[in-house]
Amino acid sequence: MKIIEVADYEEMSRVSAQIILEKVKSKERVTLGLATGSTPLGTYKELVRDHEENGTRFDHVHTYNLDEYVGLTSSDPESYHSYMCEHLFNRVSIPLDQTNIPNGSAEELLQECLRYDSLIESIGGVDLQLLGIGQNGHIGFNEPGTSFSSKTHVVDLTPSTLEANAEYFTDLSKQPTRALTMGISIILQSKEILLLASGEKKQDALFHLLRGEITETVPASALNMHGNVTIIADSQALKLVN
Ligand code: F6R
Repeated sequence: MKIIEVADYEEMSRVSAQIILEKVKSKERVTLGLATGSTPLGTYKELVRDHEENGTRFDHVHTYNLDEYVGLTSSDPESYHSYMCEHLFNRVSIPLDQTNIPNGSAEELLQECLRYDSLIESIGGVDLQLLGIGQNGHIGFNEPGTSFSSKTHVVDLTPSTLEANAEYFTDLSKQPTRALTMGISIILQSKEILLLASGEKKQDALFHLLRGEITETVPASALNMHGNVTIIADSQALKLVN
């Protein structure tokens, strides 16, 4: 596993955007796995800046998001669909029919999971998967205890994840408690993985990922079984590791 230690959130965002842009510029068709949450916001900002200043094109890019809340429609302002449109898709002119996010308002959630897996399996895994990490070591919404062989599935979010994400909901009574998430085995099909971590809240999770055992209790530890993972983390997040 390659670790790039950076000074702070801003440097993490610049370095990760650079790696993504190299991929975007290197191929005629690029598939990216994308994350939401606060961690990749700076990276998306850098991608938008590069698109505006240097005219980098995204019309050959196909995206596959990790997760979506159950019960929110794509137009709900608190859905991950809306997040992606606001922070990236609408700002780099990527064709929306090339963007994929699990449908959390599907009537048949199990069918939706199968559909999503076959989409990703049909491309043989994405070229580059961007990941954040939860304070409890989750990746996507694969909470502690999730099988490493899991495919896309419906998950009951843990109290710690609900609390960490509560700030994004104006009315907490409307915060979904379930989500659809790409499973760990699907994430591991990615050809290359880029995990970002910033700030002291991520210290424990990074310590378990980098210094602990490979165990389903720490979903991110599955990344130790993948041959092409880069972690970009700031000094605060790496404090227990150094
Ligand atoms: C989001 C996702 C989650 C987040 C994680 C960290 O699509 O898959 O695993 O990456 O919860 O969230 P932030 O970045 O808000 O600390």
